[in-house]
Amino acid sequence: MRSNLKVIGMVLIVALVMGGLFAQGAKDEGAVANKDKPLVWFNRQPSDPVTGKIDMDSMNWNSKTYYVGFDAAGGGAVQGKLITDYLAAANPAKLDRNGDGTIGYVLCIGDVGHNDSKARTEGIRKALGTWNGSTDPGAAKVGSVVVGGKTMRVVELEGKAMTGTDGSTWNANAATEAMGGWATKFGNQIDMVVSNNDGMAMGSLQASNYPAGVPIFGYDANADAIEAIGAGRLTGTVSQNVDAQAAGTLQVLRNLLDGLTGADVYKKGITEADQWGNKITAPLDYWADVKAVMAANSGVDSTNWKQYTEGSRDAGIKQSAAPKKRVLLTIYNASDNFLSSSYVPALQYYAPLIGIDLTIVQGDGQNESSTLDKFTNLGSFDGYAINMVKTNSGPDYLDKLRY
Ligand code: BGC
Repeated sequence: MRSNLKVIGMVLIVALVMGGLFAQGAKDEGAVANKDKPLVWFNRQPSDPVTGKIDMDSMNWNSKTYYVGFDAAGGGAVQGKLITDYLAAANPAKLDRNGDGTIGYVLCIGDVGHNDSKARTEGIRKALGTWNGSTDPGAAKVGSVVVGGKTMRVVELEGKAMTGTDGSTWNANAATEAMGGWATKFGNQIDMVVSNNDGMAMGSLQASNYPAGVPIFGYDANADAIEAIGAGRLTGTVSQNVDAQAAGTLQVLRNLLDGLTGADVYKKGITEADQWGNKITAPLDYWADVKAVMAANSGVDSTNWKQYTEGSRDAGIKQSAAPKKRVLLTIYNASDNFLSSSYVPALQYYAPLIGIDLTIVQGDGQNESSTLDKFTNLGSFDGYAINMVKTNSGPDYLDKLRY
């Protein structure tokens, strides 16, 4: 009798559990599983930190996975040319501060494992003839460059990855400190300062012993850097077209959430108007082999800085009637200069226009878990945009989307 009751009890429990599961299944019927939702990687391209090889497993996660960024190698070349153009027009007697016939420069490296950083180091060294086949700090050889019609020797006095005391990369404070040390160590051997980004260039200018008047080049065209060009403090920078990238990230998500497939995903709202009447004005190219939508770069200096001043949002993106969709977006480091002062404000401007209700979570730039731990509640979002701490962390995010 007793055992019969036990069996009946167990049957009841099983039935209740099954019923619950069934009801759950019925409730979610028609709902899209997280693994099948749109996913856009941006700014940090899934790739091997050493070789730079694109992580195609992460790129091929599902048919709705893309990368939105900019032409990193092209950008490195633009920065290199900006520098050689400046030197070509410079006065060698003034530029070469100690008159030793050698142009000495120091290099602020952002992150040795980030392909944007690698591409800039390569572009700079190639332009100055100091490229030795490696982007490692200190791997440069003696080069040569034309300064005001005169061919001069070029030496990279030192190149250093600017890592903060907390381990975060592209660190502006580390650049202030390094510049202070370089100014003391190399004195008037330093004829030029080159940086992988504006944050570190502006950081270098903060060094109390920065050699006044020495030309300095950054990258990103952040508002404070543009202002510094206007004021004659920064010599040049490169715009990676943050507006096109931020709007592009959102537009690709919009297209995928609207159910577009094939070429429409990277064309609608990008090379032609979308169904809501929007089109990004700046060019964005599609690189099919790596599923990437890429913005172009342009050099900024004293001749054209005014075109890059704040407030130049893309008029091609207007308020659309698109139904609101929820997107969870991660930022690898809340303190990253470019992302916090340029990219995030652009996202916040375009998201409501494109009909995207954006939830932004930010990490500390050092531990993947600082962003990963906030990559939660995934079922309540329609799509995802990911900027990771390390470019090879793609699988960690995908693991969370698997279920
Ligand atoms: C920017 C850097 C930024 C980095 C973050 C780069 O494209 O130029 O300023 O720190 O992205 O991933």
